[in-house]
Amino acid sequence: MRAFAHRQRMQQAGWRPAEFVGRPVIAVVNTWSEMSPCHAHLRERAEAVKRGVVRAGGCPIELPAMSLGEVMVKPTTMLYRNFLAMEAEELLRQNPIDGAVLLGGCDKTTPGLLMGAVSMDVPAIFCPAGPMLNGRWRGQTVGAGTHTRKYWDDYRAGALGEGDMTEFEGVSTRSPGTCNTMGTATTMTSLVDALGLTLPGASSIPAMDSAHARMASACGERIVEMVWEDLKPSSVLSQGSLRNALHVNAALGGSTNAVIHMVALARRAGLSIDLDAFDDVARRTPVLANLFPAGANLMEDFYFAGGLLGLMTRIADRLDLQARTVSGGTVGDALARARVDDDDVIRSIDRPVTDQPGLAVLRGNLAPDGAVIKPSAATPGLLTHRGRAVVFDGHAELTARIDDPDLDVDADSVLVLRGAGPVGAPGMPEWGALPIPRKLLAAGVRDMVRLSDARMSGTHYGTCVLHIAPESHVGGPLCLLRTGDEVVLDVPARRLDMLVDDAELARRRAAWTAPPAHFARGYGAIFQNHVTQADQGCDFDILESGARTPEPEIY
Ligand code: FES
Repeated sequence: MRAFAHRQRMQQAGWRPAEFVGRPVIAVVNTWSEMSPCHAHLRERAEAVKRGVVRAGGCPIELPAMSLGEVMVKPTTMLYRNFLAMEAEELLRQNPIDGAVLLGGCDKTTPGLLMGAVSMDVPAIFCPAGPMLNGRWRGQTVGAGTHTRKYWDDYRAGALGEGDMTEFEGVSTRSPGTCNTMGTATTMTSLVDALGLTLPGASSIPAMDSAHARMASACGERIVEMVWEDLKPSSVLSQGSLRNALHVNAALGGSTNAVIHMVALARRAGLSIDLDAFDDVARRTPVLANLFPAGANLMEDFYFAGGLLGLMTRIADRLDLQARTVSGGTVGDALARARVDDDDVIRSIDRPVTDQPGLAVLRGNLAPDGAVIKPSAATPGLLTHRGRAVVFDGHAELTARIDDPDLDVDADSVLVLRGAGPVGAPGMPEWGALPIPRKLLAAGVRDMVRLSDARMSGTHYGTCVLHIAPESHVGGPLCLLRTGDEVVLDVPARRLDMLVDDAELARRRAAWTAPPAHFARGYGAIFQNHVTQADQGCDFDILESGARTPEPEIY
């Protein structure tokens, strides 16, 4: 009866039985929407995927999913990453689906789609949206996010005017596709590539290159084969592939956001990973990708230089070459066809982009469960620093006070934002690159030590300590810090401390009261009650592990 009804309704939708009976049904899960400019081309790419599915003997069914346009979503897409993960998992569970091609790329869509697919564990292949084209303005290479921040600071300092910014606004994000710097989107699609969940090298293909449409078609063709082979994410992912991704992240100088997403993804897959693994790998694998914000090029340059596979050849001696990929082969098979064509864009291991690591994990009495910093995008002279805290309770207070001419702050101060974590903000927005006070910008200051329990855009830069855990809202020691306290940052020693004695901290603790909850109902209430801290991946505790959810009963 059920099969009868399915055949009946597929014919209602215009399918002939010969087009679907006996064929694998492939979900083309598409995060396209008009509120997601980075995904503007994914309608056409979905058609290319379907072409490949049909060619291989499958039946493609497009399923729309939450789009999460990074710059459009309020207050932050991070509030909805887990929503998308739930949506992807349940879309694949509730519908009669044999395999899935996942179309995403703008920041949270990549981890969201994959967390869901990994939990559902049907054959799945990720089709990355690809980076947007290179940008130029007034003879300079400009990268999405990185130069927005740079020129915004110049504007606030009075070096650029309204007209300049209006002109820049119209030319700086030049085409559909994800941010063209080594931001969170490119970091995550590259790491998913390194994990073996895309066709090898797919993440580096520019969104507007015709090779991108061909890659999408190849995804469609390959997923049908994967269904017959029963090649699921659980067969691809391993401790080896996870370790590969961590080395690739270090060599890319990837976004700090990758730490949160990779921890969440690994936990979904039942693999073990902690913050120290990121630090350990980053100490041994230097930044080799000469890309903004740590370097000086964009993703189109990276693609022409050899792309991700080229980069991986540089660190092949530390990769698990037997790790599997969705192609059916191994990482070693993929690298056998790879090469580097530009030694400046993809550096060799003995000529890194910087002598600073791409990531460091800090601990101390301000961050007992850890915090992260990206030394490769920081000012080297600030990586060891002692300064007086200037504390802001929440983003509204930061915005209201940061440019106050009477704010008691100098270039050696440590700017602190709290109430910006997973529960406190809510959703842990990318507020971690706190603006430099206008009066200091005017005096030529372009970086200061900044601390927060927030995240930072992967496209941004600066000496910003992020993801302080536990966050202040739930009583992490950051809630006890006061303006005027001395803070010591010692990145070489991996320490972050406030110089306040234990008796005084105990007094402050006794006087502290938890801020009120943000939500009384709805998804927000689910989020605040179940989200884990940054060092745990910010997944929902009810989603990250547990017995496999059974297939629904059908009658
Ligand atoms: Fe979409 Fe950066 S805003 S990838």
